[in-house]
Amino acid sequence: MTSVRRIAVLTGGGDAPGLNAVLFGLVTRAEALGIQCLASEDGYEGLIKGTLTPLDSTRVRGIASQGGSVIGCSNRANPFSYPRRDAEGKLTTEDVSERVAWTVRNENIDLVVAIGGDGTMAMTSRLAPLGVRSVGVPKTIDNDLAATDVTFGFQSAVDFATMAVDRIHTTAAAHDRVMIIEVMGRYAGWIALEAGLAGGANVIVLPEFEYDVQRIADAIHARRKQGQNYSIIVISEGAKPVGGTHAITKDMPAGHLPKLGGAGDRLAKSLEQLVPEHEIRVTVLGHVQRGGSPVAFDRVLGIRMGVAAAEAVARGDDGVMVSLRDGKIVTVPMGDAVGKNRNVTALDERVLAARAVGVEFGVEF
Ligand code: F6P
Repeated sequence: MTSVRRIAVLTGGGDAPGLNAVLFGLVTRAEALGIQCLASEDGYEGLIKGTLTPLDSTRVRGIASQGGSVIGCSNRANPFSYPRRDAEGKLTTEDVSERVAWTVRNENIDLVVAIGGDGTMAMTSRLAPLGVRSVGVPKTIDNDLAATDVTFGFQSAVDFATMAVDRIHTTAAAHDRVMIIEVMGRYAGWIALEAGLAGGANVIVLPEFEYDVQRIADAIHARRKQGQNYSIIVISEGAKPVGGTHAITKDMPAGHLPKLGGAGDRLAKSLEQLVPEHEIRVTVLGHVQRGGSPVAFDRVLGIRMGVAAAEAVARGDDGVMVSLRDGKIVTVPMGDAVGKNRNVTALDERVLAARAVGVEFGVEF
């Protein structure tokens, strides 16, 4: 039997399809193992404020197919740089991590299960010296977390983006247009790479490879010469031109990532003079990639990871993250996932396959 009797559960950062599947697997299995679950709603917000809510199997029954998170998400609630307004009303941040440790002690919480991405794993690891024991579950549509082969949420985002690329083809062809589709993924190009390849994009522009706009224009001209009067470009929100910077819509206070956006519009502007024979249109997919029901893959992965997290808690594990490795759910040190994002490389087999079928990446490899 386990010494862990009572855990707090949170879903940190932005939501991802499959969070509710994890909660279903985790809470159902934990209850069967004699472990009581409480929710820290809106990520660390509940633990910061000292308000935990009951989270039993009746609250998670039937939710595995639902998007979002029944216990809410927040990417503001970083205990080490919690946003607040100073005397002049300026947005600043403060360290409220001791409040989390206090809630954990006060509520007799034995361990925190943090379901989140790189940011959530980083803050959870930093809470360990304050006496907060933890188990992590990796989440993000961006699929950029190290120490796991894949994160749940990614496949749902890719499937949605692929469907969007498919639909753009017909309207692009009807109007002889260059269509640019901007997808999420932050500083990793996995969504663009997979949705672009699956959706038959002619050009895929990734954050990992600074793009040369002339190469993209040349690829469009080459298609035109072959009688293909339209082109489809899938671009990651984190893409940068050679020597350029990220396209940012909003800077954020210290400890919070800036809001990306505008990479597609920027590319459209610089392509305008180079391919004047085409009209260019930009579609920004945005949060529809994160919303809605998880696809079956993410539901199954989510439930497996949730069950595995409950079992790790019951075993007495601390400071570990559940992970998918070669098809199996295992645990790895949480630190392995912190600050080491997994990015697309030029030698990734998907990049090589895309190049082999004629996809242009806007870069000379
Ligand atoms: O990390 C997931 C993600 O959807 C990124 O792909 C995107 O850049 C960011 O979150 C958007 O964050 P927000 O929901 O705060 O706009």
